[in-house]
Amino acid sequence: MNSPNRPSSNKRSVPYVGLGITAAALGALAIVRRMAGYNRGNGLFGAEWQGDRRRRALVTGASSGIGAAFARRLAAEGYDLTLVARRIPRLQALANELAQQFGTNAEVFPADLSQPAEVERVEKHIAGMEALDLLINDAGYSVPGTYAEGDLTQHLDLIHVHILASMRLTRAALPGMIARRSGGLILVSSLAAFAPAYGLTSYSASKAYLSVFAEALFPEVKAYGIHVQALCPGLVMTEFQDNVPGSYRAPVPRPMLLTPDQVARESLAALANGPVVFVPGTIYRVVAPLVRSAWFSPVVKLIMNRMGRTGRYR
Ligand SMILES: NC(=O)c1ccc[n+]([C@@H]2O[C@H](COP(=O)([O-])OP(=O)(O)OC[C@H]3O[C@@H](n4cnc5c(N)ncnc54)[C@H](OP(=O)(O)O)[C@@H]3O)[C@@H](O)[C@H]2O)c1
Repeated sequence: MNSPNRPSSNKRSVPYVGLGITAAALGALAIVRRMAGYNRGNGLFGAEWQGDRRRRALVTGASSGIGAAFARRLAAEGYDLTLVARRIPRLQALANELAQQFGTNAEVFPADLSQPAEVERVEKHIAGMEALDLLINDAGYSVPGTYAEGDLTQHLDLIHVHILASMRLTRAALPGMIARRSGGLILVSSLAAFAPAYGLTSYSASKAYLSVFAEALFPEVKAYGIHVQALCPGLVMTEFQDNVPGSYRAPVPRPMLLTPDQVARESLAALANGPVVFVPGTIYRVVAPLVRSAWFSPVVKLIMNRMGRTGRYR
């Protein structure tokens, strides 16, 4: 029997139930916001003007796909641009388009980032700039076939483009950003960083490097107002996919195919306040934690390995 002076156990548990419901509601809200939040508006990193000058971004891999989408979005927001890749006519056409459409000062800077001497030219160019506000290390590709039988030079070139060039250009951009106490660094990684599998040896490994590099760099530089992001897209409709035999397109449901513009828009919207390792696309934000979970990742690897053997993805 309950004593008149002591609350019954039912009454005592009421505040705990209330707290539990509130915590669950807040948790659900946080998950929904996290999954949907980065889709909103432009929310671009930084304003068009920085003092009395226009902001400038350097984009590697600007001749197509995600890099070109970043360039278009930044130009629309009033950034001036430095466009880096190997295909000069593509870069020139993009620079002309952006100059006509937005009045962008877009300089074309051709460079093969698999060549150390070419990377050095870009480094020197960055060092000589009045200012670089945003660096996007986007250039990349995957090497078809297996590591054991493939051309080793292609794999080593990939490491130069993905890892060494990104590290060197980031390092070249940092002194100016630190001095101005502001800047943004985007390293285009991949969901493949979370799911190493058959046929993705150096690709997955290099993307995992970029994600870890970004995560470790951010605490070093955030005190200087520098934002860092490892952008981890799933499947994006670009030439990247066209260049690989056995395209993924047939077996993949439409909602899983992102457009380059969606990736660029969400990335820029999340740069200032989103997570360092950022996954664009709501569906992939749901999938990514599963891919990384101890329970689910063996299943993902099984599927990926199977698809890799049959040449169904990249
Ligand atoms: N598409 C996807 O599903 C997907 C998914 C996850 C991550 N990603 C990543 O997103 C990034 C962009 O790929 P994308 O999908 O936009 O493919 P894309 O349309 O093929 O673009 C690749 C870009 O990289 C440049 N590039 C390649 N090798 C280069 C080199 N040696 N030196 C300088 N630039 C070089 C290409 O320019 P040039 O050929 O003119 O040099 C091109 O501008 C890559 O890092 C890729 O790994 C793509």
